[in-house]
Amino acid sequence: MSLVCVADFEEKSKEKLETSALDYYQSGAGDQLTLKHNKEAFNDLRIRPRFLRDVSNLDISTEIFGSKLKWPVGIASTAMQRMAHPDGEVANAKAAGRAGSIFVLSTLATTSLEELAEKAPETEKWFQLYIYKNRLLTETLVRTAEKCGFKAIVLTVDAPVFGIRRRDVRNKFSLPSDLKLSNFTGIQAKGVKSSGASGINEYVASQFDDTLTWKDVQWLVNFTTLPVIAKGILTKEDALLALHNGCKGVIVSNHGARQVDGVPATIEVLPEIVKAVGNEIVVMMDGGVYQGVNVFRALALGAKYVFMGRPAIWGLAVNGQKGVEDVLDIVKKELENTLKLTGCASLKDIRSEMVIHKSCYSK
Ligand code: FNR
Repeated sequence: MSLVCVADFEEKSKEKLETSALDYYQSGAGDQLTLKHNKEAFNDLRIRPRFLRDVSNLDISTEIFGSKLKWPVGIASTAMQRMAHPDGEVANAKAAGRAGSIFVLSTLATTSLEELAEKAPETEKWFQLYIYKNRLLTETLVRTAEKCGFKAIVLTVDAPVFGIRRRDVRNKFSLPSDLKLSNFTGIQAKGVKSSGASGINEYVASQFDDTLTWKDVQWLVNFTTLPVIAKGILTKEDALLALHNGCKGVIVSNHGARQVDGVPATIEVLPEIVKAVGNEIVVMMDGGVYQGVNVFRALALGAKYVFMGRPAIWGLAVNGQKGVEDVLDIVKKELENTLKLTGCASLKDIRSEMVIHKSCYSK
């Protein structure tokens, strides 16, 4: 079967992945209503194309924090990528580099900051941070990211604990014993081991700091030399707090629907956040963006940049670096196609009035 869209890669990856890894990557929390909604909410947004606008010279490049990028789509931080393919985060980051995309390395990666910096030197790399109870350890991570040439710290704010993902509970999910969380040594490296429930949830409960408040964001903003981006923002109230506490950007995200089942789709809350802070900090988003046409919708609603999490995992599982390259190439071609067919020669031509909610047509 030839693989022509992200959904094909997801289907194919089911043949490649062990059940416990597949379940870990696919799952959302609870009844997985938000997981479904993240994707489906895009379908309620109708596109209003314009024609006869000379789209012969297409330019989808963009710039974030002074870095020039070939297009507005990057790879979100997802944990433990060596379960999908032996080359894990290295393959994923190299593919991102070739596509001109940002790659975000997870704190819970199976590749260290140092190794990634060495093996994917050309890629624009950001580091996603979880704040550990052990602050010294946390500071060391940030300093290592700075030293290794990472360009931003993505602070995930939505995870004092992890959401309950039932398949991980049933599988008593543990990290396979030949792998470790490579940014750490000792218990923090080898601790994703079930003692009866989901091993990753047990790890997070024992290691992550659940006392965090906006004061801790200030602590981070004040000591790092890198821009701090708050990831997991779902309300205008928190977006404003991110702005006022020194963040340079926000990623509108519900953690791939893995935290509270019942939160809105990210595309639904994007407009209120853009309205509140879009002129002052960089607003980005992720969640269910598996097609170029949905990148277009997110950009029209004011996102400056979009990330994909699971699609890169499916590419990785199917064919390592080449699989991720193929996934990115498919989405890029879909985006270019959408721009041409809607009369947009560049990203700035994508106007907010080009995407409206379907309810506007029944009034
Ligand atoms: C995640 N996500 C995540 N986020 C984060 O800040 N740190 C992490 O380590 C992880 N790990 C992780 C693992 C897996 C398997 C998934 C699916 C997700 C959330 C991730 O960064 C992103 O928000 C979502 O993946 C976006 O949704 P899509 O693109 O997967 O629908």
